Amino acid sequence: MGIPTVRSGRPSLDGRPDTPVLIDRFGRVARDLRVSITEKCSLRCTYCMPEEGLPPIPKDELLTVEEIVRLVVLAVEQLGVREVRFTGGEPLMRRDLEQILAGCHARLPDIPLAMTTNGVGLEHRARGLAAAGLGRVNVSLDTVDRDGFAKLTRRDRLGSVQAGIRAARAAGLAPVKVNAVLMRETLSGAADLLAWCLAEECELRFIEEMPLDADHEWARANMVTAAELLDVLGARFTLTEAGRSDPSAPAEKWLVDGGPATVGIIATVTRKFCDTCDRTRLTADGMLRSCLFSDQEFDLREAIRSGADDAELATIWRGAMWNKWAGHGIDAEDFVPPERTMGAIGG
Ligand code: 5AD
Ligand code: SF4
Repeated sequence: MGIPTVRSGRPSLDGRPDTPVLIDRFGRVARDLRVSITEKCSLRCTYCMPEEGLPPIPKDELLTVEEIVRLVVLAVEQLGVREVRFTGGEPLMRRDLEQILAGCHARLPDIPLAMTTNGVGLEHRARGLAAAGLGRVNVSLDTVDRDGFAKLTRRDRLGSVQAGIRAARAAGLAPVKVNAVLMRETLSGAADLLAWCLAEECELRFIEEMPLDADHEWARANMVTAAELLDVLGARFTLTEAGRSDPSAPAEKWLVDGGPATVGIIATVTRKFCDTCDRTRLTADGMLRSCLFSDQEFDLREAIRSGADDAELATIWRGAMWNKWAGHGIDAEDFVPPERTMGAIGG
């Protein structure tokens, strides 16, 4: 069984203004590109992956280093993208990640390259990644309790993640941001996680759990909300609301004990921020997706492999964005989760 998706043909450009940038019907412009480079992962977080992992993408369907570099350069030079983030699955599962980074950095020295990783094995690659052109990392870490970590991720790798975070800082990939998905199982450890991040000078952000888990167990009623988290953290820390760093930043921030350290909350579900979304996404098998939660995809791999030139690829990309919907309805009764799970899209 492959990954079930809805794949549309060439996107319509009807009514689109004549502009090179990735504008949609709602006036939003995508400047931030997320590139998933693999569906493989070294962990099995319950909110993301099934126990056995995702169905593998056949090797010949995965974009190559050259294809990824070509598409990233195109997005920046012709479509106005200003920031690129590599995700997965787990990007460190690709041995050629350094080549991808080096290829992009050589062509686009002024564009910030970032990565979202689970941190497993990062300890051994942080310096090489920084040398290849990586600028920043977000590391996913939900708890600093070893047993809790092993339960949630189905792997006993907390030590490796913590070592990875330290190595990233030492390699100059700073400030390291730590992403924690808000789960009922780990909520009681949230203050310990914040204390650890403060000591390690990492910026912690909590993310509301989204209905992108492979097991389809997400339930709105069971979701930990931002308000609940603030209660738990408030028992140990004094939190002062500090707003968002810019209007399209998804995280709302709080100063911890008067600052300057902060903790962020990304309330994807309860305070949705689709109106200011500036993302465009490329999956590991070369599909364009404008939204995590929409099943609409456009096939760039087929286009690139059948000899499309840059102008044609740019037209498909512009069309994909022009057809982006207004936003998700996770908080609505009739919400239907997308077919692809988080691990197969890239966060
Ligand atoms: N809800 C919210 N965040 C998720 N992530 C993975 N699955 C989910 C989900 N269901 C996060 C990971 C990582 C990023 C890639 O997305 O923890 O930080
Ligand atoms: Fe792997 Fe990240 Fe999914 Fe966890 S959330 S299983 S680390 S891809």
